[in-house]
Amino acid sequence: MSKPVLVVTTHHVKEVEERIDQNYDARRNPNEAPFGRQALLAVSEGADALFITPADILDSEFFKSVSPSVKVIATFSVGYEHIDLAAAARSKIAIGYTPGVNHEATADIAILLMLGASRRAYEAQEIIRTGAWKPSGPNVMLGWQVGGKIIGILGMGRVGQAVARRARAFGMKIHYSNPSRLADEVAGDAVFHESSRDLLRESQFLSLHAPDTPETHHFLNAETIKLLPKGAIIVNAARGGLVVDEDLIAALKSGQIAAAGLDVFAGEPNLDPGYLGLKNTFLLPHIGSATIETRTAMAMLALDNIDAVLAGKPAPSLVAVKTR
Ligand code: DGY
Repeated sequence: MSKPVLVVTTHHVKEVEERIDQNYDARRNPNEAPFGRQALLAVSEGADALFITPADILDSEFFKSVSPSVKVIATFSVGYEHIDLAAAARSKIAIGYTPGVNHEATADIAILLMLGASRRAYEAQEIIRTGAWKPSGPNVMLGWQVGGKIIGILGMGRVGQAVARRARAFGMKIHYSNPSRLADEVAGDAVFHESSRDLLRESQFLSLHAPDTPETHHFLNAETIKLLPKGAIIVNAARGGLVVDEDLIAALKSGQIAAAGLDVFAGEPNLDPGYLGLKNTFLLPHIGSATIETRTAMAMLALDNIDAVLAGKPAPSLVAVKTR
């Protein structure tokens, strides 16, 4: 029996590639760069399923022209902002995503960003790597201690909660804002703010863990930055679209914001070049989920979704209901 045809838009770890080869007739992207809409449409002609990443933007135009043979598209991500879900539903294509497997790795990176920003890791690296390290007095390279400080967490889903667990171990006080209040046994001593503006007023550290939706897009802007205590530290391991880059850069220059640790950027892999000239930024190239364990688990879950839909079985994590 012939195997179903699967378009795979990026390269995965060996174990995942082996599973793909075993179960599918794979059409792989020979390049590192994403296919782009036209090339993806062309390679998808007659395919049964697509295994994509957030670098593949599936807008309404894509769904207007996608091959009617495609029954399921699985994204290698927990976020699905890159997919027009309404258009997918109109095309009767099920969309799989990967919740529940990347929160621990992403929370680790949020803590790395927080410490990197607060302990001036970029400057420290620069000093050591450029040979600029000289005997110095006690006032050099002073950062900001995290213990005893309030960390405000915007978005208390799985990642937010994993960050809270870690921050508690550093002696931080947890405040959060979320569409709904957590159950007491989950929230523990975390203080809930119904209004995210109230959360900002308390947050000496602010860690963003919300999806980029019409409600949260550009959440951090000139006006909301002013609500933060002067010298607050910002962490973003969620989505670049939550932040107005220009406004954050201005606040980092003025000292209103002391430092920022950022793993995600609007328009990535491009980022506002204003960040690069600032010593008080600690920047990473969207590596929140980038551990062998997590990336493998994400890919396996994406493939579980594809296998299930093609077999007509309930899939573990779909964001759009299959209607045919
Ligand atoms: C996700 O899973 O959405 C991560 O941000 C990786 O893209």
